[in-house]
Amino acid sequence: MHIIKLNATDSTNSYLKTLCANECVADYTAVVAKKQTNGRGQMGTIWSSQSSKNLTFSVYKDISEYNLKHPFYISIVISLAILRTLRFFSIPKLSVKWPNDILSENKKVCGILIENVVKQNNFSSSIIGIGLNVNQVEFDNLPKASSLRLVSGHIFNLDEVTNVIINNLKHYFNILKKGQVDVLKAKYELSLFRKNKPSTFQDAEGLVFSGFIKGVSDFGNLQILLEDEVIKEFDLKTITLLY
Ligand code: BTN
Repeated sequence: MHIIKLNATDSTNSYLKTLCANECVADYTAVVAKKQTNGRGQMGTIWSSQSSKNLTFSVYKDISEYNLKHPFYISIVISLAILRTLRFFSIPKLSVKWPNDILSENKKVCGILIENVVKQNNFSSSIIGIGLNVNQVEFDNLPKASSLRLVSGHIFNLDEVTNVIINNLKHYFNILKKGQVDVLKAKYELSLFRKNKPSTFQDAEGLVFSGFIKGVSDFGNLQILLEDEVIKEFDLKTITLLY
């Protein structure tokens, strides 16, 4: 396992992307930074994290051999690896808020930013960015955020947590390699936040509607049972789960 440790960088995803552009990088090479000056979140958001208290790191994975029709299975593999890690550390009440926010006690403890490289119409490699709130105890302006320490009362060793995550990534990528996508999807759906519970959503036009989350499609769309008893699929950019 090759781990590059940095005191500071703009973003570990950006650092790893530049590294990959300049040299050959081995599978599961990880870049861990104590501090990111321009941490990036999903949909162009900023990811800020207390320096040295939390984990901000990125992992390289060659995915060319998987012949993926859609990269959502990468997202599933990473979500499952984080869930398995948190279960290992006895973190309570875990769930995954579609597509890949990891929650404990209904609060976000981990965010994932996956950046895939496509070559000759095939998904060739993935930069897997993980921001895990580990030992931070104050989230003043973020009422929906939490950390492993807050939910468990324990202080964690960041290196140990990193190693367990990488081993669990290997575990689930091996299952993906065997083509057991149904197993992965079923496991992911078991942990889906608000599954089968009455929930409220907002679409891209701002329209608020109710429904029940039933699962996800092979293409990563969220399947919602609407009030007219029809199941409709929604793409990531078209819908927000309000509560
Ligand atoms: C999210 O919006 O929930 C995703 C957050 C992902 C943050 C991580 S921290 C390590 C890696 N480097 C980045 O710039 N972003 C990801």
